[in-house]
Amino acid sequence: MAESWANLGIDLHLEPSGPGLRAGLTAALRDAVRGGRLAPGTRLPSSRTLAVDLGVARNTVAEAYADLVAEGWLTARQGSGTRVAERDVPRPEAPPRSRIPRGRPAYDLRPGFPDLSSFPRAAWLKAARHALTHAPNEAFGYSDPRGRPELREALADYLARVRGVQADPDRVVICSGFAHALVLLDQVLRGRGVREVAVERYAVGLHRDLLERGGLRTRPLPFDELGTDTRPLASGSAGAVLVTSAHQFPMGLPLHPDRRAEAVAWARASGGLILEDDYDGEFRYDRQPVGALQGLDPERVVYLGTASKSLAPGLRLGWMILPRPLADEVTAAKGVDDWTCGTPDQLTLARFLRSGDYDRHVRAMRQRYRRRRDQLVTALAAHAPAVRAHGIAAGLHAVLELPPGTEQSVIRAAAWQGLAVTRLRELRHPAADPAGTPEALVVGYGTPPEHAWPGALEALCRALG
Ligand SMILES: Cc1ncc(COP(=O)(O)O)c(C=O)c1O
Repeated sequence: MAESWANLGIDLHLEPSGPGLRAGLTAALRDAVRGGRLAPGTRLPSSRTLAVDLGVARNTVAEAYADLVAEGWLTARQGSGTRVAERDVPRPEAPPRSRIPRGRPAYDLRPGFPDLSSFPRAAWLKAARHALTHAPNEAFGYSDPRGRPELREALADYLARVRGVQADPDRVVICSGFAHALVLLDQVLRGRGVREVAVERYAVGLHRDLLERGGLRTRPLPFDELGTDTRPLASGSAGAVLVTSAHQFPMGLPLHPDRRAEAVAWARASGGLILEDDYDGEFRYDRQPVGALQGLDPERVVYLGTASKSLAPGLRLGWMILPRPLADEVTAAKGVDDWTCGTPDQLTLARFLRSGDYDRHVRAMRQRYRRRRDQLVTALAAHAPAVRAHGIAAGLHAVLELPPGTEQSVIRAAAWQGLAVTRLRELRHPAADPAGTPEALVVGYGTPPEHAWPGALEALCRALG
C-alpha cells in the first residue's frame, strides 16, 4: 500500500500487514520530527483518526507513537494527547522567499482544495459500477462535444433545484474543469471581437493568465465594503465580466444585490456577457445560498460550475450553461479541440447525482467545513483576537486580516510552524492599486485531511499569536 500522508509532510510506503508497517510508520514519523517538518509542540492526530485515514489498524499507530515516546521524539500526556517533544531546533534565519516553506509543509492551508481525504470512494465506485453496467456501447465511442446527455440532464435538474439556474440540457457543455471552460470562452469571445474582460480585483491568478494568454486584456474592477463594484462596467470597454458572485474568491462576500442588478443592466444594454464562476455555491453555512445570477438573465449570463470543490479537482469535471447562440459556438470550438473528460467519468457523475449520493456527500462536507470554520473563528477569538476573519459563513477558505505591520513576521512564524499559506496580495490583480489591500492571509481550512485539522489550527494560532 502506498499512502501519501501529505498534510503531515510524510510519504508512507507501507506493506498492508506485518512488522514492516509499524517500522515504516515509526521511521516516517521520526524523520518528520527530526527534519523539523513537525515542529516541537505540534499535536499529532489521535491514533484512531490517523489509523482510519491511513487504512491501518489502530494498534499499529499506537505502537509507532509508543516507540517514538520511548525514543524521546514524542510526549504523551493524559488530556493533551501525543505531541512532538520540545527540543532545540535551529530557527530559519531569513524569512522564506516563497509562500511555501522549504521542504514539504507539515500543514497545507492554501486555499483552492477540498479535503481530498474525504473523496467518497465507495459511493463513487458504486456509481461507476452502475454507470458502466448500464452504459450503451456507443458511450465508449467519440461522443457529442457537449458531453454525455445523461450528465447534461442530471446537471440541469440538479442546478435548477439547488442553485436556481435556468438550465436546458441542450445548453449545457461539459468540460475539463472551470479552467478548460475559460480557455474555450476566451477563444469564442475573441472570435466575437471581444478584446477586454473585466475581472475582480482579487482572483485566482491562473484564471487571469488563461484569459490573457489567448490575447484578451483583463481589467480589474474596484472592491469595497459591499464587495466587487460592478458600476464601472457601464463606462468601460469590456465585452465580458468574470465574477464569483455567490462568494467572492477570496474575499468571501456575495455580490451585493444592487451590483448584481448593475451587472445585468450593463450586459443587457451593451450586449456584454457575465461569466459567473459558481465554484463553491453549495457551501453556505448560515442560510440558504444566494441563487445563481444566471437565473436573472440566462441570455446574458454564462453559468460555470465545477466538481473541484464539491468532489475533487482531480476529476477534471466542470460545466457551462450558456445562452443559446454561445452554446453552439462553444460546442464548435470544443469539437475542434476535443479536450474533454472521458465518458465513463461523466456517466459516473450522472449516476452519482441521480442516486442522491452527490447531495449526501455535499451535506456531509458542508457540516465538516462549517465545523472547521466555527472552530477557526473561535480559536482566533481566543488566541489571536487582533486578527479579523472576513466574509460570510461559507466556502472552504477565509481571509484573515492581520494587524498592520505584522504580515512579514506572521509569514515567518507560519513557515516555522510548517504551514503553507497564501497572502492576499498574491491574489490581487497586477494592475490594481496596491493601496487598500489589507495585510492578510487566505487560509484554506477545507484543505487538510480530518486528522491533520486540529494540528493545523493549533499551528496557525501559534503563528498568528
Ligand atoms: C475561484 C475558483 N474558481 C474555480 C475553481 C475551479 O477550477 P477547476 O474547475 O479548473 O479545478 C477554483 C479552484 O481552485 C477556484 O478557486
